[in-house]
Amino acid sequence: MKIESAEFVTSSTDWFKCPLPQNPEFAFIGRSNVGKSSLINLLVGRKNLAKTSSTPGKTQTINHFLINRSWNLVDLPGYGYAAVSRSSRQAWGKMIEQYLMKRENLYCTFVLLDSRVPPQKSDFDFITWMGEQSLPIAVILTKSDKLKQHELAISKKTIEGKLLEQWETLPPLFVTSAEKKTGRKELLEFISNSLTENR
Ligand code: GTP
Ligand code: MG
Repeated sequence: MKIESAEFVTSSTDWFKCPLPQNPEFAFIGRSNVGKSSLINLLVGRKNLAKTSSTPGKTQTINHFLINRSWNLVDLPGYGYAAVSRSSRQAWGKMIEQYLMKRENLYCTFVLLDSRVPPQKSDFDFITWMGEQSLPIAVILTKSDKLKQHELAISKKTIEGKLLEQWETLPPLFVTSAEKKTGRKELLEFISNSLTENR
């Protein structure tokens, strides 16, 4: 799929303040600093469309981007980041939860895991919660440029093994690097297929 246009629409502090649910939508979630905003920039081929930062906790709102004037990418705040105040963390949790449960045009949520780090409790809690809500996910292993091929293969196996302890089937799994620009084609193809299937 070719990206013809990508524009920032709005930042929302609640699900009901989001743009009208008229376009198919794909959201990005994962622990802070895992690379959500960078991956959105890789997909749309723009350096700074989504704001990135080396300091965790950069994205704090629900950010909508309109792609090819017909579907949305959504950058969500990270979960499980301990350094923000407790009250603000709970507000984020609730905001994200409500968004995921109520957003009727949400086609798929990409759950990002750092390929270098074994999935944490917060990741499994989140994936389990999505399963309980019957909300579709795909898993993305990010920052693959930081690992050698064989290390990446081990990491992938470990994560799949962990997921299979809980699930009978694996969700779609992608490996990406915003640094090396890998995984873009596969992800765009997945989105493209999903748009066609649900039309
Ligand atoms: P929050 O908005 O704080 O939750 O973070 P985020 O998940 O949006 O992460 P972001 O895209 O801001 O990236 C965090 C840091 O990781 C930045 O310093 C990025 O440059 C770096 N980063 C992101 N993706 C990659 C990648 O594929 N490879 C490498 N080496 N670094 C990456
Ligand atoms: Mg971000």
